[in-house]
Amino acid sequence: MTIGPRLPGKVALITGGASGIGAATAATFAEHGASVVVTDMNDNLGREVVNSIRTAGGEAIYLHLDTTDEEQWTEAIVETLSKYGALNILANNAGIADRRSDNKSTVKIEDTTVEGWDKVFAVNSTGVFLGVKHVIAPMRAVGGGSIINISSIYGIVGSGAGSAYHSSKGAVRTFTKSAAIQCANDRIRVNSVHPGFVDTPLTANTHADPELMAPRLNATPLGRFGTAQDIAMGCLFLASDESAWMTGSELVIDGGMLAQ
Ligand SMILES: NC(=O)c1ccc[n+]([C@@H]2O[C@H](COP(=O)([O-])OP(=O)(O)OC[C@H]3O[C@@H](n4cnc5c(N)ncnc54)[C@H](O)[C@@H]3O)[C@@H](O)[C@H]2O)c1
Repeated sequence: MTIGPRLPGKVALITGGASGIGAATAATFAEHGASVVVTDMNDNLGREVVNSIRTAGGEAIYLHLDTTDEEQWTEAIVETLSKYGALNILANNAGIADRRSDNKSTVKIEDTTVEGWDKVFAVNSTGVFLGVKHVIAPMRAVGGGSIINISSIYGIVGSGAGSAYHSSKGAVRTFTKSAAIQCANDRIRVNSVHPGFVDTPLTANTHADPELMAPRLNATPLGRFGTAQDIAMGCLFLASDESAWMTGSELVIDGGMLAQ
């Protein structure tokens, strides 16, 4: 295998691409030759990501996509195919945490409302299901594809953090395996990625509070928080043909946390 751009000629759609891991993944995919469809609900930030990709010489467009809305998925796929003629890669990255109003600590089970639980599941689980559902036909039409579902270390183990987050990310983990089996005959690979503690806008408040930050850092053997780029590189591997024989797998990128 030669070393060089790893996604030449591929078309990739990324959800939650306006920020953090999604933005880094979009930039990395574009740098490796993919045409990238950056989607998000935050249109201003999403357009900024596209502008910086274009400034760096990459190819990208921005589309508004609330991943919980099935009609918006239909529209996004139609627009992607109309612009680029194919869809080869989907990174189901959009996600939210179930935090208290101070945006630092997570809610306890006894304080979790059904509304709050459903909101987290709508984005973290239903949004992932809808993405997979709507890319199967276009990927089948081009002989296969790669779907990357962003779960979390908290989709594998428990902690004192929000139970809706854990459960919704656990659902992504097993949904990924179910989808991998259903889609294998169509040569569509489906894998999950499980980041540890990564510095992004999602974790900024938590990591800015020494009391909340220290236990996370202490639990990470490599002694630093991850960067969005650390996760984007794993997504690049799963998106590329280098992972051609991987499906239904879990890629843990966590600085060693789950090795303990
Ligand atoms: N940062 C971490 O430590 C960490 C750890 C494990 C897993 N993750 C997962 O990684 C993914 C990305 O997280 P991040 O840290 O980059 O967060 P982030 O908050 O920086 O980015 C998330 C993006 O998703 C978008 N989004 C939220 N709801 C959406 C919806 N319904 N439709 C479309 N877009 C929506 C937001 O606008 C935002 O741009 C999430 O699924 C998160 O759960 C993050």
